[in-house]
Parts: sequence; C-alpha cells; structure tokens
Amino acid sequence: MSKVIKNGTIVTADLTYKADILIEGGKIAEIGPGLSGDEELDATGCFVMPGGIDPHTHLEMPFMGTFSTDDFNTGTRAALAGGTTMVVDFALPDPGQSLTDALKRWHNKSGQAHCDYSFHMAVTWWGEQVFDEMKTVIEDHGINTFKHFMAYKGALMVNDDEMYASFQRLAELGGIAMVHAENGDVVAELSARLLREGNTGPEAHAYSRPSQVEGEATNRAIMIADMAGVPLYVVHTSCEESHEAIRRARMAGKRVWGEPLIQHLTLDESEYFNTDWDHAARRVMSPPFRNKKHQDSLWAGLQSGSLSVVATDHCAFTTEQKRFGVGDFTKIPNGTGGLEDRIPMLWTHGVETGRLTPEEFVAVTSTNIAKILNCYPKKGAILVGSDADILVLDPAKEKTITASTQASAIDYNVFEGQKVKGLPRFVLTRGHVAVTDGDLTTREGHGEFVKRPGNGSVNRALSSWKALTNPRPVERSGIPASGV
Ligand code: URP
Ligand code: ZN
Ligand code: ZN
Ligand code: ZN
Repeated sequence: MSKVIKNGTIVTADLTYKADILIEGGKIAEIGPGLSGDEELDATGCFVMPGGIDPHTHLEMPFMGTFSTDDFNTGTRAALAGGTTMVVDFALPDPGQSLTDALKRWHNKSGQAHCDYSFHMAVTWWGEQVFDEMKTVIEDHGINTFKHFMAYKGALMVNDDEMYASFQRLAELGGIAMVHAENGDVVAELSARLLREGNTGPEAHAYSRPSQVEGEATNRAIMIADMAGVPLYVVHTSCEESHEAIRRARMAGKRVWGEPLIQHLTLDESEYFNTDWDHAARRVMSPPFRNKKHQDSLWAGLQSGSLSVVATDHCAFTTEQKRFGVGDFTKIPNGTGGLEDRIPMLWTHGVETGRLTPEEFVAVTSTNIAKILNCYPKKGAILVGSDADILVLDPAKEKTITASTQASAIDYNVFEGQKVKGLPRFVLTRGHVAVTDGDLTTREGHGEFVKRPGNGSVNRALSSWKALTNPRPVERSGIPASGV
C-alpha cells in the first residue's frame, strides 16, 4: 500500500521547496507536485524532513554496577516519539571479551527496536585478538566506527599507546576513530581528593571534570589521530577548550568532527548546585553541564560548521539508580536522557531563536551524521530511493516537557517544565507511520540493523594525502664515506 505526504514544505540540508512525497515499499518512490497514493498524510503548514539520527545512545548499557533503564524497546519508542528514526548504540566488550561476542549481545538486545539502528564498537581493551577482530567487525558486520574512552579509569579507559595502536589499525582498515575525551588519570585523582576533603555531593562531579581536562584530551586525541592518519569523531564535545581544538584541527585540514549534545547546549552547571540531591544527581553525566561561555561556543560551532552533529548520549538511569551514589558522587551512574527531546529542544532553542536555519537544523540532526557514518543517502536524505524515515514537523505545535507523558521508562526528565515549539505531526520509519500528533503506533521489532561499510570517501582522501606526505628517505647520489 502506497502512502503520500501531501501539501508540506520539504526541508533538506541544502534545499527547501514545496512538493509531495510518494512512499512505496518503505522507500521514497517519487517527489513532486500533485502526487497521489493509497493513503494520504496531510502536511499542510509543516516541514517535511529526513528523520532524526541520534548517533550516540546507550540502551540497556551495563555501566557502574547497573544497566541503563531505557532499552531498545523503550528507547527506540522514545526516539520515534521525538522525531528520531535511527539510533546508533555502542557495543561494549567486557575486559578480555571478543568484539564479535559483544556484538552478539547487542544484536540480541536490539531485536525489540521500533526504529532502525546501527552500532559503534568500543575498544575497551587491547591485544592481538582485538587487532584481528577489528577487520571482521568492519568487513563482515558493517561497523566502521570504534569508540575509545580516555576516561573511566579502571573500567572502560584505554591508554595512549593502546589508542595509538588502535587508531593505526583503523587507518589501515578504513575505519573511523571516536573518543570520549577527558583525561581519566586527572579525573581519578581529582575525584579522590574531593572525596577526601568531604565533597561527596553531585556538585563534586562537576568539580572533578573541569573543561581543561576535556580540552587536553581532545588535543591529545587529535594529535594521535593525525599521527595514525585516521579520521576522528569527538563525542559529547561540551566546552570551548575542546571545541577550540576541533576548530583548529579542521582549519588545518584535519579530518575531525565534534558532536555537542542537546543537554550541553541548553542546560548549565547551576543544575548541580540545586539543593535537592535527586535533582542534581539526575543530571550527573560526563562531561558535566558547563556555563554560558561554553554553551555560546557550542552554538557558534554549529552555526559556523566547526561542530557537525547534535546528539543526546541517551543513557537513562532512574532516581533509584542515581541514589547508588548518596554519600559518594563517584558512584552516581553517569548519564542522562534526551532521545525524545532532542528535536523539539533544538528546533525551539536553535531555529525559533534564529541561531540555526531549518536547513542547518536538518544537517546537524540527520544529514551530516549519515554522511560521516557512511549510510547516506539510505538515511539522512529526502531523495528517490532513500528509506522513508521522515519527520513531518509542525512548527506551530507546542508542549511543556514532562516525565509524566514521556515514552522513556525513567521517572523524571532533565528538561522537565521546558516549553517547546516544533513537534512531530507524523514520524515514519521505513514508511510505517509510527507517530501521529503524539499518538504512538510504533511496532516492536520493526527496526532493522543498518550496515555501514568502511573506507568511505573521507578515509580514501585522507589515506591518499597521508601516502603523499608521509616521511620518505631522500634519494642521494653520493654518500660520504663513514668517518669511523
Ligand atoms: O555520562 C555519560 N556520558 N554516560 C554514558 C557513557 C559515556 O561516557 O558516553
Ligand atoms: Zn562518553
Ligand atoms: Zn556516551
Ligand atoms: Zn512497518
């Protein structure tokens, strides 16, 4: 049965125009005026755009002695409710665990997904087995992105020598390196000192991870990626120091991308000084929320193009889970939600304020990341042949965000009470209408895994450039006799 989205204004990353969209077999079959189909979806007064892609989620993530509460069932429903039609989650091998075993675990968990999804692989330890399996992960499993945690010492953190070895392997295989950039050694020392001095509350989480710690690690990762010749994606860029490093690298022609989160763009560090322990602890995440100077820097980065993608790092813990850290802030599970709120919050604080154009909004919520991850134009595009993952956004529709009506399974929302304008009228996942004006008709198990091959065009360009500019011996005609 075909569907047609009628009377809307199509917005893509580079063009806005009036046209209808015909959908057949889950894909866009035709774009043009006056189309008809078996079922009509009226988009009068709405913007019709590629569904959001959130490249940074942790669904049912084993972390800090527990599991994040939103899983692929509740998490992907929350995604669709908010206009996001694809999520990319991080497969995390346990120490010593094979990468392909970790992938099996993630494939088992994701069977419930209501929207399409993909995985990044995390490199949580280093050895010959990891080196060997990276090839299989890219070539057989269609996963071209590998995350390295420079923080969480004693758990997920890898050291510089391991990171350099992994980055070199990725350069060879046509993969992309990702980093959580914070100096884990310094964070561990600062945390221990704060605890010793009696700073045990959630505000100490922010004290333990100042922006310099993130800036240093971002600079270090950029240098290591440059030496290895691999493209680098910096997740949850939260501060000016880190943004400055990314900006400078990009100006120098390096292949580096930065990803601010909607939380860092719109919430600030004052949240940690709230006298209600639960309020503050619910907002504990790494890196922590920052002050206005940093927020302005992130917005400017999106405007100027030095930052490329807005994500959520959705890693949702209940209040009960957060309370594991009463009396010791280092035991508060790190992570916040946002999947359901990213699109309306960014539209409200970005497009409604004039910081972003609608086209820039599409670029940073969908198209840029589809290109970076090498799944464009299957995803991130309104083009004939693309998957019909479509958000019909009604710019006049408003709501106040509240946990009591959210799809996410946790008992609060970090954006509680925020008024947002710009909400989905329809959300389609491969042609299936999953949302109609706030009513969810999602289907458990509808989501499919999206393969993303390695050696995309940025990899090819960078390896050509590195081959051309690599150190090589000078050819000399006469070599003087040795003085020995
Ligand atoms: O605090 C956070 N960000 N939790 C999720 C894991 C990570 O570091 O991305
Ligand atoms: Zn992280
Ligand atoms: Zn994360
Ligand atoms: Zn369906």
